[in-house]
Amino acid sequence: MPRKKKIKNNKPNLKFKGPKRPPMRFSRLRGMKDVLFEDYKYWDLVIKKATEMAKIYGFNRIETPILEYLELYERSTGKATDIVSKEMYSFVDKNGKKIALRPEATPGLVRTYIEHGMFNLPQPVKMFWLGPIFRHEKPQAGRYRQSYQFDLEIFGEENPAADFLIILIAYNFFSELQINVQVQINSIGCAECRGEYLSKLIEFYKERGKRSKLCNDCKKRLAKNPLRLLDCQEKNCVELREDAPQIVDSLCDECREHFIKVLEYLDEIDIPYSLNPYLVRGLDYYSRTVFEIWPVDEEKEVAVGNLALGGGGRYDGLVEYMGGHPTPACGFGLGIERIILKIKEKNIPLKKDSKNIIFVAQLGDQARRKILVLFEELRKSGINVRQAFTKDSLKSQLEEANRLGAKYCLILGQKELIDETILLRDMESGIQEVIGLKKVKFEIEKRLNNGN
Ligand code: HAM
Repeated sequence: MPRKKKIKNNKPNLKFKGPKRPPMRFSRLRGMKDVLFEDYKYWDLVIKKATEMAKIYGFNRIETPILEYLELYERSTGKATDIVSKEMYSFVDKNGKKIALRPEATPGLVRTYIEHGMFNLPQPVKMFWLGPIFRHEKPQAGRYRQSYQFDLEIFGEENPAADFLIILIAYNFFSELQINVQVQINSIGCAECRGEYLSKLIEFYKERGKRSKLCNDCKKRLAKNPLRLLDCQEKNCVELREDAPQIVDSLCDECREHFIKVLEYLDEIDIPYSLNPYLVRGLDYYSRTVFEIWPVDEEKEVAVGNLALGGGGRYDGLVEYMGGHPTPACGFGLGIERIILKIKEKNIPLKKDSKNIIFVAQLGDQARRKILVLFEELRKSGINVRQAFTKDSLKSQLEEANRLGAKYCLILGQKELIDETILLRDMESGIQEVIGLKKVKFEIEKRLNNGN
């Protein structure tokens, strides 16, 4: 007897055909964040504002690779800084070269300025940069191992008006995002006057009994990077520094003059700032003006928290030190995630992108085919149109239209298909009217132009 042929189930087998291993779930690396759908509205807002500010003040966008030679950061950011000595992601590549993931933007931008001969362009050269940085720090809310910065840099301008402009932009950027901030500012002088100051500072800490009270990090800093003793947050170190000499008292005439000018400009347009004699910044390249942007407790109007929203300053010696022509420069970096945290914390209302949304909905496959075409026609003629082609039920399509804040919904069902009409539903009132399919665009534009 002939055997009955087995009827094959012709459903495709979509199972993953890898080597047989137990399933495994991966999580993201510690300190790294995924930016999910809901968060993107904040990112869009901040990035749009950053781009707008950069454009208004005449900065041109620039991009640099995430990977650079490790030595670039060792020379510019500084070998003794926390960023380079403790936090860098670095590796040896296949050619044996020491490579680092960018821990900050400024060194790469300085390299770009030199490498592309931007010294020959009309000065100043104003750069706008936005991108990720990587620091192997101890993660906490607002401190990540991959984070994003909005950076502005001005190359080839010595005038204190440039320092002022950078601070003004940072301040306006936060004001327009409705985040109250305080600018903390200091001057750390030039190589010459700072040299004299450092001798005084070392002398002060070497006085009997002081050194032993310093934290272990500061004991090392005393030899390698004494300026950083001033911004240590350990209790004993904070107490000790209160009697330490202040750098502003040691500034040479040119540096003092420069600093006074920056402050006068800030006074001129009432930008609130606080002089912070302990602000030295954790990077080696700064000279003269240094500043940080701190969130403010609205009632007490004092800086709060332990995380700055941004920081920057002048770095007049860096371009030359990195092999370029002597070029004064200044800039800032603002932390996008920290800004977004503030916006969320303060519940700052975001403008909804629901302006005049027209949603198209279908009932049945025939209607879907027609609606695909209609959608494209409306989109091409500039109407702000949305869809849910994959959905079958009208209820779930209308829910989607509501979620998007649609003004009107166009509904195409079997009956309308035959009649060559379509339903136009006002999403606020729920009133529906029948309009001719050929006149859809005209009818919608008429209603939108009438402000209905
Ligand atoms: P910075 O102070 O090291 O300066 O960083 C600037 C800002 O980036 C910080 O105030 C903070 O908002 C954000 N940021 C830094 N590290 C993290 C992190 N691990 N997680 C989240 N946000 C972070 C610089 O990087 C200089 N290059 C700024 C500059 C530009 N100076 C002159 N030009």
